[in-house]
Amino acid sequence: MSVPSRRQPLHHATPPADAEAPLGLRFPDDFVWGAATSAYQIEGATKEDGRGESVWDTFSHTPGRIKGGDTGDVAADHYHRYADDLDLMRDLGLHSYRFSIAWPRVQADGAGAPNQRGLDFYRRLVAGLHDRGIAPMATLFHWDLPQALQDAGGWESRDTALRFAEYADAVFAALGDDVPVWLTINEPKTVVQNGYLEGHHAPGRQDPDAAHLVAHHLQLAHGLAVQALRARGGPGRIGPAFNLHPCYPADASAAAAAATTLYDGYENRFYLDSVFTGRYPADVLDDLGPDSRLVRGIRDGDLDIISTPVDLLAVQYYTPIYVTADGGTVTRWPTSQADWQQIYPDGLYDILTRVTRDYGPMPISITENGLPTPDPLGADDTVDDAGRVAFLRDHIAAAHRAIADGVPLKSFHVWSLMDNFEWAEGYDQRWGLIHVDYPTQRRILKRSAHWYRRVIADNAV
Ligand code: FCB
Repeated sequence: MSVPSRRQPLHHATPPADAEAPLGLRFPDDFVWGAATSAYQIEGATKEDGRGESVWDTFSHTPGRIKGGDTGDVAADHYHRYADDLDLMRDLGLHSYRFSIAWPRVQADGAGAPNQRGLDFYRRLVAGLHDRGIAPMATLFHWDLPQALQDAGGWESRDTALRFAEYADAVFAALGDDVPVWLTINEPKTVVQNGYLEGHHAPGRQDPDAAHLVAHHLQLAHGLAVQALRARGGPGRIGPAFNLHPCYPADASAAAAAATTLYDGYENRFYLDSVFTGRYPADVLDDLGPDSRLVRGIRDGDLDIISTPVDLLAVQYYTPIYVTADGGTVTRWPTSQADWQQIYPDGLYDILTRVTRDYGPMPISITENGLPTPDPLGADDTVDDAGRVAFLRDHIAAAHRAIADGVPLKSFHVWSLMDNFEWAEGYDQRWGLIHVDYPTQRRILKRSAHWYRRVIADNAV
């Protein structure tokens, strides 16, 4: 594996020395504290136990696609080190661990009889979580589409949504009794925007007309998976995982207000409306036009499937968006090492209260929130990521304010449990509570991990 050599300067302001000082904000007694990861980002072992290839294997092995030429071939080697990682989760006191299941481990080519050795890994992981008193939260799809399905059209093909329902059913058959919370598709919008509009994620396309059809098929796949779980019965709860970006006008003009509304349609309402109201937003459909592949691709009954009732909404929050009169965007707040991320905790409050007002009330889980910081490993084997402590404290405080104002927020998961393969950024960005020393695969708890352990123990920031 190639190891990041780049050392980034600190991008964010140094937090105040009292970033760890308690704010005295106590959470409800049953509040759930967790951390999140995804399969391709941490597992490695891409050729083991019958795993097939995914679009991310192909993409990361394509020269020029990933910073430093990094791949997920080894990643954090979690496939082999999961038991030690589970012990670290227990030491942190996590109540919940969100991970994803790699479709190509379960069906190498995305179809047919499930691969038991692939499922066995997740059986062991889930059992290990239960042994340690940690509730599993499993995402069915975190972007690692089997390459064979991509070759057959990928998410542009309606058939992929049907294959996904079969895959989901195989996973429910194996793990349905032991996983209390399921998330269907992780951030469909990111597949659409990064994979099909901008092209810096797999499969690396720049095709707007295809992109919005892909969005529909991802939504359809979500609905079909919800129906598959319902058909089996069983105790599991299920919902979508959306990265929601609160959109604000960049100035006071009427044109900026109008542009912001449409921007919000593409960013948020397209996904939320279809699941929670059974309609795509009219302004987005009008904007795309009747000849778009999306509009032509919607069949009778699709929106009934997509809006099959869910049990929860998983919200992932990273950044706000400020929209200009001409539909462009500007940066208003300091960014993290990820240049797309403006640090604005109030945006979390705004999006939580907004979805509750517009679609709820329904149980909400925050399934991702975090930032990358350039945390070098200190000579004394410590990692002082004070910027992460300040970021999380401020966002958790915003979540607390949302609860106080009536949002039924049930859980908070940090992205991420540990440093990992950050897609096009490779290993250059470190998002973890736990530092991974890639050459040795040693894990070192960062300052933020020690801090988060106290937050969990106190049930308060
Ligand atoms: C989210 C992804 C997750 C990770 C974080 C930083 O969009 O779901 O895998 O890359 O961003």
